[in-house]
Amino acid sequence: MNTTFLKACRGEATDYTPVWMMRQAGRYLPEYHTVRSRYSFLEMCRTPEAAAEVTIQPVDLIGVDAAILFSDILVVPEAMGAPLEFHENRGPVFPEPVRDQAAVAKLIVPDPEEKLGYVMAAIRLLRRELATKVPLIGFAGAPFTIATYLVEGGSSKNFFLTKKMMYTAPELYGQLLDKITESTILYLKAQVAAGAQALQLFDSWAGVLAPRDFGEFALPYARRIFKALKDAGVEVPLIYFANNGATLLEQSKTVGADVLGLDWRINIDDAARIVGPGIALQGNLDPCALLLPPAKLEERVARILEQGKAAHGHIFNLGHGILPEIPPEQAKFMVEAVHRLSRR
Ligand code: CP3
Repeated sequence: MNTTFLKACRGEATDYTPVWMMRQAGRYLPEYHTVRSRYSFLEMCRTPEAAAEVTIQPVDLIGVDAAILFSDILVVPEAMGAPLEFHENRGPVFPEPVRDQAAVAKLIVPDPEEKLGYVMAAIRLLRRELATKVPLIGFAGAPFTIATYLVEGGSSKNFFLTKKMMYTAPELYGQLLDKITESTILYLKAQVAAGAQALQLFDSWAGVLAPRDFGEFALPYARRIFKALKDAGVEVPLIYFANNGATLLEQSKTVGADVLGLDWRINIDDAARIVGPGIALQGNLDPCALLLPPAKLEERVARILEQGKAAHGHIFNLGHGILPEIPPEQAKFMVEAVHRLSRR
């Protein structure tokens, strides 16, 4: 088993800088489309053999140093009782949005083995299939990000309804976030029990909040999750990724994660100065930079690796998910360049 990724998360010395990509199991790979053509997206999430197959594809085809479970952050709110639909090319939709007391009261804190057993089954299957390959990362959405989908009823531009609830019904907002937080703690504990070897909490929309609101309405819930996991004796590395979060790092560094994921809007060495010792950094190539000609792409990779030396540990990644338009050869070239240029 290649443990380079796990060592870098803990800030230990490695032979080279490990690399994986957010959304690496996805639509830029023709092999993904082959499997996907047989199922809807949610069916694929609920079929452990299919989820496992596409999880392993980027390990074999692209050469990444970690696998991330193929699933979605929105299976948790669905298990809490909110019907979820994925409309082709329109993304996720919650047709019964959660906007009042009655809707919040109806949500349950699900037993993960009962309602999300298909995720644990995929993890168990993957640990067997990845045994001689790379570690498996489990994940969940951070409570604020999950709440935006439930309240807005899907994706959003300005998050008006979520902010409206925060500002005009803070108690209701707190009850909703508490339920999501408790559900997420149980879910992540179950993933570790099933075999997840690291966990990433995705706070994809944290960057739409003013620092003060992030500190009041998002960060405390993410912190509660990491604390509950550590208190329960969970030893796997914990990663927090706040997209568009460069202005929130002073706060994110207190979330209780071992690793902070960075988007591309900040240089890693600047981030390292802000977070200080003891926290590894993950990132942070602009996903669109994968369109650069190889020589120019390699220059970008070299610069990020150089900046990464300032961190307590560096895991190379994109600053957000890989886009469906990216040619797989480019992703493969990037991974190979990270390995070659960082070899010590
Ligand atoms: O990273 C990985 O490879 C693991 C799998 C993964 C997916 N979604 C697969 C997926 C992970 C970790 C996620 C997390 C996720 N899902 C986030 C947080 C990460 C981020 O990007 O900030 C969010 C916000 C979601 C919600 C979601 N799911 C959206 C907005 C979409 C896009 C809809 C679209 O059509 O672009 C999805 C769908 C989704 N999740 C796909 C995949 C591979 C595409 C589904 C398809 O095949 O059509």
